[in-house]
Amino acid sequence: MSIQSKEIHYTLFHSIEELAESEQELIKVARLSSEKAYAPYSKFKVGASVLLSNHQIISANNQENASYPEGLCAERVALFYASAQYPNEKISALAIAGNANSENQYKPITPCGACRQVLAEYESKQQEKIKIFMTGMNGKIMMVDGIDNLLPFRFEL
Ligand code: THU
Repeated sequence: MSIQSKEIHYTLFHSIEELAESEQELIKVARLSSEKAYAPYSKFKVGASVLLSNHQIISANNQENASYPEGLCAERVALFYASAQYPNEKISALAIAGNANSENQYKPITPCGACRQVLAEYESKQQEKIKIFMTGMNGKIMMVDGIDNLLPFRFEL
């Protein structure tokens, strides 16, 4: 027996100005999109935006339902829409922004486990890493280069 370890890496940006213009735009779109979320049950509004290899940005937000499990996270709405409409474009980056409430509007939102698995699927499909930006409505931004940093030991067939 031996104990093994695996490292994950992330970058912390203290302000949006530290990012490239296209990435700033992606984050702004995710933040704006969170305002249009349909989240009457949790009141936890999340926005997600996907940057495609053709430079197009897809934006989405979480969609809830009175039958709770039937809702879907912002990231999966954005990713599924992007893949449905542009199956041949690669996904360069995904940004996620949360608008929970005034107390934690600065806290970066990180994707749930199911959304991580979906991100992993698209990375495998395109054989290229996806940059994932995680942020609140303001303030610092966390970034990982590739889903392995959020989901080590992903499920694979
Ligand atoms: N939610 C997202 O949209 N993305 C996440 O990564 C975590 C959670 C949504 C699902 C639900 O509508 C609300 O946030 C509260 O869980």
